[in-house]
Amino acid sequence: MSDTDFSHDSPKGPKGKLITGHSKEFISDTLGFLTHLAKEYGDVAKIRFGPFQNVYFISNPDLIKQVLVTKQKSFLKSKDFHALKPLLGEGLLTSEKEIHMRQRRLIQPAFKKSHISNYAQDMIDITMNYISTWKNREERIMTEDMMSLALGIISKTMFSMDLKEGYDELGEPIEASMRIAVKRMRTLLQLPLWVPTKNNREFKNSIQRLDTVIYSFIEKRRADAERHEDMLGILMEARDDEDGLAMTNQQVRDELMTIFLAGHETTANVLSWTLYLLSQHPDVETKLFNEIDSVIGNRNPTPGDYMKLTYTQNIIMESMRIYPPGYIVSRKAEEDVVIGGYHFKKGDMILLSQYVMHHKPEYFDNPDSFNPERFENNFVKTLPQFAYFPFGGGARVCIGNHFAMMEAVLVLACIAQRYRIRLAPDHHEVKPLPSITLRPKRGLRMIVEDRKESFREPLVDE
Ligand code: HEM
Repeated sequence: MSDTDFSHDSPKGPKGKLITGHSKEFISDTLGFLTHLAKEYGDVAKIRFGPFQNVYFISNPDLIKQVLVTKQKSFLKSKDFHALKPLLGEGLLTSEKEIHMRQRRLIQPAFKKSHISNYAQDMIDITMNYISTWKNREERIMTEDMMSLALGIISKTMFSMDLKEGYDELGEPIEASMRIAVKRMRTLLQLPLWVPTKNNREFKNSIQRLDTVIYSFIEKRRADAERHEDMLGILMEARDDEDGLAMTNQQVRDELMTIFLAGHETTANVLSWTLYLLSQHPDVETKLFNEIDSVIGNRNPTPGDYMKLTYTQNIIMESMRIYPPGYIVSRKAEEDVVIGGYHFKKGDMILLSQYVMHHKPEYFDNPDSFNPERFENNFVKTLPQFAYFPFGGGARVCIGNHFAMMEAVLVLACIAQRYRIRLAPDHHEVKPLPSITLRPKRGLRMIVEDRKESFREPLVDE
């Protein structure tokens, strides 16, 4: 039976305020509000942002599949993403249609499973180097550590850029510009960038700082006669199928900025959440240590360990279930469309939420408990598609999904080989903050303890 063969009543939802609709509830408690909508109103709930924007929250895996896969051509990314345009331009995350398809074709080969194993050694080296400076019983701001580490990994693997002390040059302005982009996303009335508000000035200033670093990096590479096989090399050598033209500096800059942003914040959050969850679940931590000790022991971790670390992989999957860094996906209908018998109009906004789906008891027993074992025996394959979808799906599925999995597993393995990580004793209550990604609110302060004295000696290669 096709969608047009039957018709549902119009979806129901809570009564909203005349002017603001449900914007306030959504902004003040995004996760709680969406969870409530799914519980109270079922597969499709209707709300409103502002006086006119109809919004439908879909929480059924088959309907999610239709939005992301079967009928994806009827949707564009929603206007939230426009708030990121000054930062990301026409890069992969924000572009649409032909530009998006062309860029995706171009960039995809660098993320093939077969290709990303080449990055594993860099991931290990950068991590081992980074964590070797940690002192026994030292307190660290782990959320910042994971951001710097992930930024270092993405810069080196994608652009052969050694960040070392360069975190301030890139990390700090990326962080500042994202903070303001989120504010822009969440205000009903976005003032154009030329209006000299404090936020606009700060936003433009951080983008300018990023541009200075990135353009000078591109110029340096253009002047370099040597051929590079990294992402920057791929972007610079690419020629358009039709006009044979190379990408302009602006296009290369947009892709670079996109990969920097999309490729570090998400993985950093997975790692921070995982370390937090482990600190709260010593039984899981012990099993992790056992796996690390039996697979890696006292030698340096190697790329080949990745496939053998199955329990570590399950820990990462379970961490992304409980705290999915990409916790929400939004789309805008580009034409009238019927999904599962519900009629949506051109201009309607559709919201999907990994967070809500990943906490549904019909798919996950005791959804709030941290239980990596549930991912054993190909558990994901037994679920309806899109009950678990940390990387989105369809034409716009995360291009870095295999890269991110490998990175998270290897970084966690390197850390767990050496350290036991505890939450600082006087820590504030840990809560998720739904920003562009789902991050721990006010960060995480953690104590790093040596697991074994012997790791203070240089490790040996096998
Ligand atoms: C655990 C880490 C990660 C998570 C949870 C994650 C999640 C996501 C999700 C949910 C989307 C889809 C957004 C949508 O449909 O609106 C996405 C898109 C994207 N991600 Fe990731 N991501 C991760 C790591 C990475 C990494 C490491 C990279 C790059 C190296 C990356 C690059 C991208 C790009 C470029 C897109 C846009 C793809 C397109 O529209 O064609 N991500 N990611």
